[in-house]
Amino acid sequence: MRLAERMSRLGTETAFEVLARAGQLEAEGRDIIHLEIGQPDFDTPQYIKDAACQALADGFTGYGPSAGLPQARERYGRYIAETRGIEVDPAEVVITPGAKPILFFGILALVDEGDEVICPSPGYPIYESVTEFVGATAVPARLREEREFRLDPEELASVITDKTRMIIINSPHNPTGSVLTMADLEAVAEVALANEIWVLSDEPYSKMIYEGEHHSIAEVDGMKDWTILLEGFSKTYAMTGWRLGYGVMPAELAEQVAKLHTNSNSCTASFVQIAGIAAYDGPQEESEAMMAAFEERRDIMVEGLNALPGVSCLSPAGAFYVFPNVTETGIDSRELARRCLEEAGVAVLSGTAFGAYGDGYLRLSSANSIENIEEAIGRIGNLLEG
Ligand SMILES: Cc1ncc(COP(=O)(O)O)c(C=O)c1O
Repeated sequence: MRLAERMSRLGTETAFEVLARAGQLEAEGRDIIHLEIGQPDFDTPQYIKDAACQALADGFTGYGPSAGLPQARERYGRYIAETRGIEVDPAEVVITPGAKPILFFGILALVDEGDEVICPSPGYPIYESVTEFVGATAVPARLREEREFRLDPEELASVITDKTRMIIINSPHNPTGSVLTMADLEAVAEVALANEIWVLSDEPYSKMIYEGEHHSIAEVDGMKDWTILLEGFSKTYAMTGWRLGYGVMPAELAEQVAKLHTNSNSCTASFVQIAGIAAYDGPQEESEAMMAAFEERRDIMVEGLNALPGVSCLSPAGAFYVFPNVTETGIDSRELARRCLEEAGVAVLSGTAFGAYGDGYLRLSSANSIENIEEAIGRIGNLLEG
């Protein structure tokens, strides 16, 4: 088949491939423990489901404005204003099916062929994929274990060129769980403002924070005009399949991003947007209990992994992943991830699924029960000792 040339530059998420292989093994009768997926293992709180049903009954079944329903843009904008301590006008909010399209549209709207986009490495693979897709170059900014995988502003400054158009940051971070401090963000902002570079700040794990508190680069003086802030409901309210997220950005850019939405999805499902308002307005206890469960599991995982031969694992400050260093096992991380699945029946991802600088690491998600996590670590231990 003759495809458009640009398709050769489009990447994917290895997590979906591992999930498919794990599914095959399960179909053959194997017992697989899933630690590869970035999806909470909880169900969406009932009050949010009820609100969606009510919205359907109330007739929220038709097309809406591409940028989102006015009441949802207002409510989501107010959530960002309250949680980040910044002013947000509803005209600065664009609602999309998941936060992911904001990434795609933001890059499409701002980045030209030949430009450079600085992406955290290891990092969410979609950053690099979309950057290369539009004909730009993804420049890795290495996150080092010695800095607890927090972006080093000096290292960032060293990769800036006159072609740099955008810096992508992600805190709490997938896959390492690192959290940028306010001082880190101020240092990144200094580089961005001095060079007039956009920052795409990917913050869907903002509520999954166990040490310190969440800050956005949009809080730094002058940065709101240069930031696209991504938020969503997938992780905080266990709503991955609902597809609901949004971006906050300067109103002029929001209009352009909404135009991309008109040309692709038309709009986000109206009743889903109403359910999102209910998610923010309703009781937060269930969401908070999920976050507490992730913290408890993180501690069990980190302790269990550190007891395995050749494995050392930092305790991540946020998100729901751990990123153990497996170099001392003497097994290549890709090979180890493969053997964990095929031999031990534990689905994990190789750090290389998150870029070249993920080599030597595995990513395990804590979206599974404590019982299964303990069983999985036991199985990996048998594999390493056997
Ligand atoms: C870092 C990061 N950004 C964005 C997303 C996209 O989330 P959503 O489900 O809101 O599209 C994910 C999902 O895994 C993620 O890990």
